[in-house]
Amino acid sequence: MQCRVKAGESIKETTEALVLVGCEDERALPAVHRAVDKALGGHLRDVRSSGEFTGTPRQSVVMHTRGALPAKRVLLMGLGKKRDVTLDGIRQAMGEAAKRVRQLGARAFAAPLPGADVVRAPAADVAQAMVEGAMLGNYRFTSYRSGGDKSPTVRAMTLLAERATRMSGLHAAVRRGEVSAGATAFARDLCNHPANVMTPSRVAREARAIAKDFKLKLTVLDRKDQEKRRMGGLLGVSRGSQEMPQFIILEYAGGRKSQRPVALVGKTVTFDSGGISLKPSENMEQMKADMTGGAEVLAAVRAAAQLRLPVNVVGILPATENMPGGRATKPGDILTMLNGATVEVQNTDAEGRLILADGLAYAARLKPACIVDVATLTGACIVALGQFAIGMMGNDGALKAAFTNAGEQAGERVWEMPLWEEYFEQLKSDVADMRNIGGRGAGMITAGMFLSRFVGECPWVHLDIASTDWSASERPCIAKGPTAAGTRLLVQFLINRAERPR
Ligand code: BES
Ligand code: MN
Ligand code: ZN
Repeated sequence: MQCRVKAGESIKETTEALVLVGCEDERALPAVHRAVDKALGGHLRDVRSSGEFTGTPRQSVVMHTRGALPAKRVLLMGLGKKRDVTLDGIRQAMGEAAKRVRQLGARAFAAPLPGADVVRAPAADVAQAMVEGAMLGNYRFTSYRSGGDKSPTVRAMTLLAERATRMSGLHAAVRRGEVSAGATAFARDLCNHPANVMTPSRVAREARAIAKDFKLKLTVLDRKDQEKRRMGGLLGVSRGSQEMPQFIILEYAGGRKSQRPVALVGKTVTFDSGGISLKPSENMEQMKADMTGGAEVLAAVRAAAQLRLPVNVVGILPATENMPGGRATKPGDILTMLNGATVEVQNTDAEGRLILADGLAYAARLKPACIVDVATLTGACIVALGQFAIGMMGNDGALKAAFTNAGEQAGERVWEMPLWEEYFEQLKSDVADMRNIGGRGAGMITAGMFLSRFVGECPWVHLDIASTDWSASERPCIAKGPTAAGTRLLVQFLINRAERPR
């Protein structure tokens, strides 16, 4: 979808559909609504006073203008109660609007930027959120539909700034929205591809394509290299699979040479069967998306390059399948990780932390400014947080605050869990430095505690995205299936960091 912003009035805009957002408890209609109502001879007020449109979230009404306006139709989109309107509410309204426009068979639409009377946020943030919403609401994955994708798709959105103030800021915001939504779509695509296609080698190829497109440095360590470096976690998890494990490092250098990089580490398990500790078959197909962390890291590095952010970023992806082969790692086996720590594998299904241990240890050796890992790590995260919050743990207050803020902005919110030393008790092993499971309680936290042993003294945040990873239903900005939630969080974090370089 092509998105742009221009100065202009809604009542003068020629478009297939003009999208207006409206609230529930609107005493006085916003100026744009009044102007449209006047042109339509009171039609808009009729639709409201009759109760056909009350403004509840996701409610919509279509009015044909029959030549009364240059716009062919007006689509009213509900935003909910005025005092509850958030940036994400606007994003979701635009997601819903894009879907409605598509259903109408229209190819393009226009929407005025709602003013400060609707949402208390900078106009640029509103513009960015609207672009993200429209693009993500329009997202579909159709690569495997034989005969191709015949259903119509929305091609373009025009944002209208009624008062032509600071247009350059709005253009940049639209670009940020396009890039962050594009990053999310890219990550979703990777996760949507089935595991027989999106193998670790294919992920490496995807990284190579990004490196080529944006002239980034790429290093891929194959099994021999991993053995030489003693990446026991990644090697141990990959033993049961016929697919070659890959350790992928993609570097974007947009900052000064002296500036330490942000290291992003993404769990990239292209299929998690559980290994010898085999998972039950119900919903196992969803484990093709156990590579979401890695997909998001690739997407975020790509976004940083597209936006030419003045930051240095290193993306690190330990990539493998987790399969129960004849040579697979068995419960009781002991692995030696990249940093020398020994781990007793009591459950081969707790594989994410094993490969991340090597990824984090590798990152820590680079002496980065900070390390951020993203992983579909624990079922316990789903139990604790449901679908609407990402689990966050870490060792640095400022870094955690940066993610809390970026999460609010991106509409991908994080919720902190404690990493208290007491929890490490649960990871003690009788035979090795630690074991890879922590028993019944606090499964999300013990996984975080495990990871904490591999970051050294480096400021670090761990994001458990198992909760938000997969959507059972269609939502305004989320299609059924892999959500790639966390991508925009990472991109927003990098954007914010670029604005306040350290
Ligand atoms: N990839 C899973 C976690 C997961 C489960 C993500 C469901 C998304 C949806 C992870 O590798 C796993 O299997 N974790 C185990 C750990 C346990 C054995 C300590 C879990 O949570 O059951
Ligand atoms: Mn697992
Ligand atoms: Zn897993």
